[in-house]
Amino acid sequence: MDTYGLPLRAAAAKVLLAVENGQSLNQCLPPALQQLPPDQRPAMQALCFGTSRWFHRLDGELRSRLKKSLRPTDRVVHHLMLVALFQLRFSQQANYAILNESVEACRALNKPHLTGLVNGVLRSAEREGAPEPADDASRFSHPQWMVEKLRHNWPDDWQSILDANNTQAPMTLRVNARRMSRDAYLDLLKEAVIEAVPTRFAPHGIQLVHPVPVDHLPYFLDGTVSVQDEAAQLCTTLLDLKPGQRVLDACAAPGGKTCAILEACDGLNEVVALDESAERLPRVQENLDRLDLHATLNQADAADTEQWWDGEPFDRILLDVPCSASGVIRRHPDIKLLRRESDITPLAAIQLGLLNAMWDILKPGGRLVYATCSVFPQENHRIIQRFQKQNQDVQPVEPDVAWGRDMGAGRQLLPDPESHDGFFYAVLEKPEA
Ligand SMILES: C[S@@+](CC[C@H](N)C(=O)[O-])C[C@H]1O[C@@H](n2cnc3c(N)ncnc32)[C@H](O)[C@@H]1O
Repeated sequence: MDTYGLPLRAAAAKVLLAVENGQSLNQCLPPALQQLPPDQRPAMQALCFGTSRWFHRLDGELRSRLKKSLRPTDRVVHHLMLVALFQLRFSQQANYAILNESVEACRALNKPHLTGLVNGVLRSAEREGAPEPADDASRFSHPQWMVEKLRHNWPDDWQSILDANNTQAPMTLRVNARRMSRDAYLDLLKEAVIEAVPTRFAPHGIQLVHPVPVDHLPYFLDGTVSVQDEAAQLCTTLLDLKPGQRVLDACAAPGGKTCAILEACDGLNEVVALDESAERLPRVQENLDRLDLHATLNQADAADTEQWWDGEPFDRILLDVPCSASGVIRRHPDIKLLRRESDITPLAAIQLGLLNAMWDILKPGGRLVYATCSVFPQENHRIIQRFQKQNQDVQPVEPDVAWGRDMGAGRQLLPDPESHDGFFYAVLEKPEA
C-alpha cells in the first residue's frame, strides 16, 4: 500500500480500506506512518483508530446518506467519507476544514469525479447533525453478531461491555520487581510530573492517568518498566512460580507474559518461550533483551509436541491461546472489522487441541494456567468444562483472588473503562503420579 505524499485523510482512507480487506492496523498502519512526516503521525494514528472504533456507527450514517453504494474501485472514497464523518462527529476540528480537506483528499486519491459527492454528503451531514442510530450495530458501533452474542452471553452486562469497548484504554505499566519496588517507581513518576496510581489487583502494576510516549518514562530503556495491561499481569499471580521450576510459555509472542514470569521469580530453572509465528517470535527476544532476561526461544506449533518437545515435562505451563481478542477491542478496534462470527468455533477447536497437548507435557503435580483475552464463554469456561469432561484427572484450582467473576471453571474479567481489559483465566493442576 503506497500512501507516500498523500494528505492525511487520504492516507487514513487507504489504511482503513486495507483493514476492510483483512489486514490488521498493526500490520498496515506502521508502514503508512513511516511515509508521513513525524509531526503528522499522531493525527494519522488517531484517525485510523477513531474511525475503526466508530466504524459501524459512521457506516450506518454514511449508507443512509448515499443513494447507492460506490463502485468497488471507488471504495476508498467510502472510507474517506467515514474518516471525515469521524472528525465531524468526534473531533474538535473546524467543520469547514474537514469538508475542504476531504474534497482535496478525494482529488489526491485520483477520484476527481467523486469530489461533488464527497462535498454534498459532508455538507448535509454537517447541516443535519448525527442521525438517530437505525439499529444496534450503529447504536453500539459493533458488528450486529457481536452485539447479539454479548447480549446472549452476558444478559446483565452486554451494554457495559459494548460501552467499555468504545472507550480508550488506559496505559498501564508493570514495574520490574527485580529492579525496583512499585512505590519507588511511583516516586520517580511523580518527580517526572507523570500522574499515576497503583493498579488494584496486579502487585507490580501502575496505571497512568494520561498516556505518555514510552521514552518519557524514567528508565524505560534500561528495563525498569514495561507496558502491560493489568489483566495480563495477573498471570504470574496464578502460576505459583518457585525457584528451580521449568516453565513453558506455550503461545509467547510478543513476550509480555514471558518477561513478567522471569521478573516475578528469580532462579527458575528454565523458561521456554514458544510461538508458531516466525514473524512474532523475534519480538519476544527484543523484549527479553531490553529487560536483560533470558529464555529459550522456539518457533513451533505448540500442539505438535513431537516436533519440538525434548521429553522433559514442565512444572508450570502458561497457555495464552490465540482467541477472538473480544476482551481487548478498546485497544484494537479493528477487531470489529476483522473478526467474523464463523471464526469462533474453529478457534475453540484450536484452543481445546492446545490444552490437550499441553496437558500431556505437564509434570504430575504441575500447574497449567489457561488464558484468553476473550469475553466469549465459548473460548473460556466452556473450553475448560469440555476439557474436564474428557480428562477426569484434571484438578481445577479456585484461586483466592479479589478480581473477576467465578465462572465455575475459571475467572472472567470484563473490560473495565477505569482499569483492566477483558480476560479469562483458569488454573488446572495435574495430580501427583
Ligand atoms: C494471545 S497471543 C500471546 C500473547 C503473549 N502471551 C503475550 O503475553 O505477549 C497468542 C499467540 O499464540 C501464537 N500461536 C497461535 N497458535 C499457536 C500454536 N499452535 N503454537 C504456538 N503458538 C501459537 C500466536 O502466534 C500468538 O503470538
